[in-house]
Amino acid sequence: MDPQTASAALLEIAARAPVVPVLVVERLADAAPLAQALVAGGLPVLEVTLRTPVALDAIRAMAEVPGGLVGAGTLLTPEDVRRAKAAGARFGVSPGATEALLAASEDEGLPLLPGAATASEVMRLLERGYRALKFFPAEQAGGAALLKALSAPLPLARFCPTGGIGQNNAAAYLSLPNVVCVGGSWVAPGAMVAAGDWAGITALARAAAAIERASAA
Ligand code: 3PG
Repeated sequence: MDPQTASAALLEIAARAPVVPVLVVERLADAAPLAQALVAGGLPVLEVTLRTPVALDAIRAMAEVPGGLVGAGTLLTPEDVRRAKAAGARFGVSPGATEALLAASEDEGLPLLPGAATASEVMRLLERGYRALKFFPAEQAGGAALLKALSAPLPLARFCPTGGIGQNNAAAYLSLPNVVCVGGSWVAPGAMVAAGDWAGITALARAAAAIERASAA
């Protein structure tokens, strides 16, 4: 899959909801009810980070949940890309971008949202054909102000910022024309997942899904 096609696929996925939950699944048994709770709250696009031993099985379980669209996050190596694809991930997310990771995603046909945090990183990815990018770590790297500043010289790039975003500051990002969605873990707090508070998570998702955004294209 060429980078242009990958980014087009990512932009279509991002258009489905303003917020993509970033999930760290510790217990496989939580995967399906967690996905159901988030989908019920209006957040169908889910990113399962490859940070726990059950992550790949969690992707398999969540991929069965009606209405959900599950991707894999924290992709760092070509092997991560292959395993995520085999588990049924529909897209991949990385905190950064390396030649090996980009090549593996293109070869495997897994649409990748590669990470960038500076003008040069954005320019390198645009040069290769990617225009849907993860802006990470969003708050620490300069927040919505940095993305606003990048939009004038780099108008083609579209961002899904992630890192330090919550219900309080998501709207500041989503009001920017170059932001298509934001990612974050705040809609699935570890303590609520551990307690099986699915209704509480649906309520958090519903609030997140209601945040208005300026652009989805
Ligand atoms: C991550 O990869 O951990 C994401 O950036 C989520 O960040 P958050 O926990 O600050 O929302």
